[in-house]
Amino acid sequence: MNEPVIKVSGLTKIYPGGVLAVDHISFEVHEGEIFALLGPNGAGKSTTIGMLTTSLRPTEGEAIIAGYSINREPSKVRSVIGVVPQEFSADEDLTGWENIMLIGYLYGLPKDTVKKRAAELLQTVGLYNVKDKKVETYSGGMRRRLEIAMGLINRPRVLFLDEPTLGLDVQTRAAIWEYILKLKKDYNMTIFLTTHYLEEADAYGDRVAIIDRGKILVIGKPDELKRNVTWDTLFIEVSGSYDSAKQALSILPQVKEVSFVNGQIVIKVADGPSAIPLVVSAINSTGQEVKRLSLNRPSLDEVYMYYTGKSLREESMSKEEAFALRRTLRRARS
Ligand SMILES: Nc1ncnc2c1ncn2[C@@H]1O[C@H](COP(=O)(O)OP(=O)(O)OP(=O)(O)O)[C@@H](O)[C@H]1O
Ligand SMILES: [Mg+2]
Repeated sequence: MNEPVIKVSGLTKIYPGGVLAVDHISFEVHEGEIFALLGPNGAGKSTTIGMLTTSLRPTEGEAIIAGYSINREPSKVRSVIGVVPQEFSADEDLTGWENIMLIGYLYGLPKDTVKKRAAELLQTVGLYNVKDKKVETYSGGMRRRLEIAMGLINRPRVLFLDEPTLGLDVQTRAAIWEYILKLKKDYNMTIFLTTHYLEEADAYGDRVAIIDRGKILVIGKPDELKRNVTWDTLFIEVSGSYDSAKQALSILPQVKEVSFVNGQIVIKVADGPSAIPLVVSAINSTGQEVKRLSLNRPSLDEVYMYYTGKSLREESMSKEEAFALRRTLRRARS
């Protein structure tokens, strides 16, 4: 396998005052991967992104990004990455076009190059027709898309996104994801992101790391993580007697547990889809028919619960509400 694009070892941040925000984390991210850092409020996600993108100095540890050290070569690191921070960073009083041009100049790119790329990027994120409007008139989704375009002006190899979809409605979130997936597909871009949305990490993350109180608890492909901590469940209604079906099912090596709940046989198996035909033929062998069968596969929330002892769903609700409130307050003040 190729050298990882991101190689983190023992990365640690203690803020002045002694807050241990990130505690000796180590992991690797490979070229073209979507890597999702999942964790509750205050887990250390933004601090991790801050160190990897060189806006925060680590207290200890190292990270190599596309061959460059965040400690020794921060400006080289900055030249190969794009960053979309958690808080909106675009200037409200400037237009979308002016914001993206400004970023291009900050990177020291020639004017013609910036103009050409700015136009392309605004087209891609669907903002070209509103490029001359002030950002204060943009919706939350439009702002996010502008920030993503801004993060891409230097054609980065790695794009860091801190909560790219937080506080956005479902349709806008889907549109942002469509764009992120396009970057991965068209440019084989490596995407490192943080999210509160388990479904997003599950659906789009090639690999997911769960972080809590500054420590990474587990890393893996969503399916692997689920398989390691939970079982698939089959719910079956049969035409005849439960007892004979239970006997036939208990001897199947794939079946971990059989019980009877609310008139249904409930079976725990490691892999539901591959177990279904075996389960059906075991039931048929007793002279019975399957009247109804459904499969429940575990979600990443169960994995999250297993490792952290709490549900992220409840927390992300309050987080979203807080975010919306903060935005409303900011608007009211200005
Ligand atoms: N500048 C700072 N000074 C002191 N402590 C800080 C500072 N920034 C963050 N912290 C603390 O470090 C810890 C990690 O914060 P961080 O912002 O990295 O978490 P996060 O996972 O991004 O949370 P969120 O989901 O709320 O964005 C928290 O306990 C936070 O209070
Ligand atoms: Mg954060």
